[in-house]
Amino acid sequence: MKVDGKPMRTIWVEPDGRSVGIIDQTALPHRLTTARLTTLDEAAHAIRAMLIRGAPLIGATAAYGVCLAVRQDSSDDSLDRAYAVLIATRPTAINLKWALDEMMAALRNRPRAERSTAAYRRAAEICEQDVAINTAIGRNGLPLIEAIAARKKSGERVNVLTHCNAGWLATVDVGTATAPIYLAYDSGIPLHVFADETRPRNQGASLTAWELGKHGVPHTVIADNAGGHLMQHGLVDLVIVGTDRVAANGDVCNKIGTYLKALAACDNNVPFYVALPSPTIDFTVVDGVAGIPIEQRGADEVASMTGRTADGRIETVRIVPEGSAVANYGFDVTPARLVTGLITERGVIAAAPAALAGAFPDRAGKAE
Ligand code: MRU
Repeated sequence: MKVDGKPMRTIWVEPDGRSVGIIDQTALPHRLTTARLTTLDEAAHAIRAMLIRGAPLIGATAAYGVCLAVRQDSSDDSLDRAYAVLIATRPTAINLKWALDEMMAALRNRPRAERSTAAYRRAAEICEQDVAINTAIGRNGLPLIEAIAARKKSGERVNVLTHCNAGWLATVDVGTATAPIYLAYDSGIPLHVFADETRPRNQGASLTAWELGKHGVPHTVIADNAGGHLMQHGLVDLVIVGTDRVAANGDVCNKIGTYLKALAACDNNVPFYVALPSPTIDFTVVDGVAGIPIEQRGADEVASMTGRTADGRIETVRIVPEGSAVANYGFDVTPARLVTGLITERGVIAAAPAALAGAFPDRAGKAE
């Protein structure tokens, strides 16, 4: 996507051909700054500390983490260590494991002398594949927005609600949930997005709002608890969210709070769509609610807030009394029955076992 007129991705190989550049998302929306990853441990830190985040981008960064490891040491032990270090960074987004498995498949049976070149080649392919998938998700999701626009009075806007950030910042480029939104906006459909702030890390307020603003998409940031009220009053036409893992039964894991939005959408007959790139499907988990591991992060993320002061300083302040217990669940699982449809690169499909296996027999077969 373009930032202030310049095309930009979230991850790239630097001109030295080895180190990896990323947007440091912890500085957004206040500052657009980049970081350079030169070692496996730096890549692992970037994922763990959420300099990068979002399921597809976690996968892409892990792929380059393997490249950085192999460049320093191309032995089997080094490959094993890279896998072990990276897989332990974050537990929920299955794209991490998918990308690491892809890298291992490309490298394991190769002579050591070829591994570094092959690793960078495969990581670049994973990135290009992500962009192609997201572009197709955009094409397949656009008719959903067009159909709503066609039912509106002339000039009346289509209101989309989204949760967390499943935009281009969560991917290599384009985004998943935002792909149909950007296409609809670019094609001239009057569109407006409600962006849930998404406590505790505020990816909606900080990242979704930033990237929508940079593209010119009209949007309003709302407190996480406002969605139900808006839906009740007819102010939301459809919900589109991303996902970190979809189980074989169609259950959808996404940022904490997504489930409550799906319940509110169901109660108010608002269509609830999930943008799903195929690397995010986990056919080995048969029941998402029971089987998807939910990340729990540090208490600080809930107990404090970070923002910019009036004089431009970035400060973190505590908002919870000292001594109160704090829990920080990162994700929740929305049961398939609450999902209107999955917008995939192969079309919009039901959140149901047969539909998933039918659309992605190549992936389903590998999990058996
Ligand atoms: O904790 P995060 O910021 O990595 O969580 C991100 C999300 O939950 C996104 O909605 C999800 O990864 C889909 S990204 C296309």
